[in-house]
Amino acid sequence: MPFTAADCQKARLQFPALARRQGGLPVAYLDGPAGSQMPAPVIDAISGYYREANANTHGQFATSLRSDEMLHAVREKAACFLGAASWRSISLGANMTTLTFALAHAVARACSPGDEIVITQLDHEANRGPWLGLIERGLVIREVALLPDGTLDAGSLAAQIGPRTRLVAMGLASNALGTVNDVALARELTRAVGAWLLLDAVHYAPHFAVDVAALDPDFLLCSAYKFYGPHVGVLYCRPDLLDTLETDRLRTQEPSGPCRIETGTLNHAALVGVGAAIDFLASWGRGDDLRQRLVDAMTGIGEWEAALARRYWTAVQAIPGVTVHGPAFGAGGGSGAAGAKHRAPTVSITLAGSTAAVVARRLGERAVQVWDGDFYAVRAVEVLGLAGVGGLLRTGFLLYNTPEEVDRLLAGLAEIAASPR
Ligand SMILES: Cc1ncc(COP(=O)(O)O)c(C=O)c1O
Repeated sequence: MPFTAADCQKARLQFPALARRQGGLPVAYLDGPAGSQMPAPVIDAISGYYREANANTHGQFATSLRSDEMLHAVREKAACFLGAASWRSISLGANMTTLTFALAHAVARACSPGDEIVITQLDHEANRGPWLGLIERGLVIREVALLPDGTLDAGSLAAQIGPRTRLVAMGLASNALGTVNDVALARELTRAVGAWLLLDAVHYAPHFAVDVAALDPDFLLCSAYKFYGPHVGVLYCRPDLLDTLETDRLRTQEPSGPCRIETGTLNHAALVGVGAAIDFLASWGRGDDLRQRLVDAMTGIGEWEAALARRYWTAVQAIPGVTVHGPAFGAGGGSGAAGAKHRAPTVSITLAGSTAAVVARRLGERAVQVWDGDFYAVRAVEVLGLAGVGGLLRTGFLLYNTPEEVDRLLAGLAEIAASPR
């Protein structure tokens, strides 16, 4: 179902933060890749948990039983969100980084010295650092090269994967450049050598329907605060795989299934918020069940966001001094599915004569919020030769962004470009 300008306006009314004004101007939240704003139903679900069900799990009384039910429902919704067959594949944690460290410890125990893990130069450090840390346990870490056009080098991917590869850790989409990676190729190559494939879907999940049945990863992670929810990480594991891994855990802990990697008491209220964020997304789609509504909604939302990104990407190149980094938008209509699939709606630029931090600050003074720097995709920014010049100026589009906001951003950039400081 298309996500229309009227839907966008209707959605905006649900986000209390969007009513914020600065110096008489409405704030333009174009900083979504670092975290989205939260709609009222999600805020209400979180506070509702504290009002109605706040308790620890597995007790013999009403609020504990209610907590158990609510947390189970969140796993079921997260399974739907990712296209997983069962809630048993869904583990929950503080954030993607923490879950990835926990997984890295478990994967290391399944490896022998000299075994190899493949990471990429494009990934967020959260999908590099936990694996690089395994060097001290005798593992060899290999790195897939990033090309100057912002895509991963397919030849390098093939060259890094070999008989000793145990796991390939790769992003589905880059939070710095918007690149959508060829994970089908990674799956083919990993399958050929019997290696696991881990996908970081943190930047992909807010913009596209994730389908683990089609992608077929062994592990996939995302973070709810990027798709209108609270700060919670979600880990999908291939059915039964987690049970074979030696995770860090207490002997008091449920030893099997999704809990095997979950340590301590989770943030129950935030988890309930994740379920509400998934319901919020599904409310923009049609279908007979939650999965169908989610896929339908994400298709429409993705096209809306792609049209905004394409509008910005096309116009920003006309501003003197601007260089756009990362892949081009695919040929086709402004909001066509082919274009939307080709890259995420995240566009990064540099402006000659100004650092990204200065430009971001001057836009911030105009109530236009965008990010500057490396966004923890520190290796990518280094490889692109942009570390010494302050990195990139990144704009990301979400369902609540509007064409008017794009035009305000462009007008602000044109003014800044005309009067560099
Ligand atoms: C692509 C990508 N991967 C991983 C992360 C880390 O996620 P978290 O903050 O949940 O640890 C981020 C956060 O910005 C990200 O953009």
